[in-house]
Amino acid sequence: MQYEDLIVEIHDKVALIRLNRPKALNALNDRMMNELGDALYKFDADPAIGCIVLTGSEKAFAAGADIAAMADYTYTDTYRDNYITRNWEHILRVRKPVVGAVSGYALGGGCELAMMCDFLIAGDNAKFGQPEIKVGVTPGAGGTQRLPRTIGKAKAMDLLLTARTIDAAEAERIGLVSRVVPADKLIEETLAAAATIAAMPTSVAMMIKDAVNRAFETTLTEGVNYERRLFQAAFGTPAQKEGMHAFLEKRAPKFDGL
Ligand code: CAA
Repeated sequence: MQYEDLIVEIHDKVALIRLNRPKALNALNDRMMNELGDALYKFDADPAIGCIVLTGSEKAFAAGADIAAMADYTYTDTYRDNYITRNWEHILRVRKPVVGAVSGYALGGGCELAMMCDFLIAGDNAKFGQPEIKVGVTPGAGGTQRLPRTIGKAKAMDLLLTARTIDAAEAERIGLVSRVVPADKLIEETLAAAATIAAMPTSVAMMIKDAVNRAFETTLTEGVNYERRLFQAAFGTPAQKEGMHAFLEKRAPKFDGL
């Protein structure tokens, strides 16, 4: 796959997508987000891929929506024509696990895109923030909604209203990222985590992702019922037969292609 603003690589069963607009610190524009959607859907549909990693450069995961592109937009451009974020949510329709690897800046739309990944691993140089207020707008891709659900109201209000940037250690402490690793090991460590996921039965990984995401959209009772249905459905998969029989036979399970 060839793109203008992305670099894609395959590492065995893991697809690595790098945002690649280095001169603009990976500021997110229409073309890049269309390309990202295209790559994500292709990998999601590829049975040889079990996990996707989304990353940026060492200096920036992404420094936000492209301010140069939108500075002169009108309300009509943004409301009627839905410019800026109209093609940002493809990632939410990806059914396989997507791990974000954040190095450098993840600001504004960059932080929002990162939060749309299933979990984040950060380099120790990562910086997160929602500085939209400083350029006169609210967040536009879920910052006011996903941030409080992820880190709680107090921290979210603090970041959103002061526009302050937090480092990787604070991001880990407040639950925005799941792990922090040395920046020069970020891709290696994230690919290793993704390879672990890709070695699991993909169909079950997809069910788990689906169920966890349901937790943010429904009541506890409904969510637990939904999980129970998926748990029961897992007994219809070859992965369950292989996993449980491998355990009883004291051998490693073979989940390839499941
Ligand atoms: N859009 C467009 N270009 C951007 C950009 C952005 N969001 N962020 C950085 N760039 C460009 C700069 O204009 C600069 O380009 P030139 O070399 O052509 O001048 C280049 O990237 C390098 O940036 P800096 O010189 O500013 O680099 P720095 O190391 O001094 O600072 C930074 C880095 C702190 C990230 C700073 O660039 C910055 O504050 N960027 C803007 C962050 C921001 O406000 N993001 C929110 C955007 S609004 C949004 O995202 C809306 C939404 O929710 C959907």
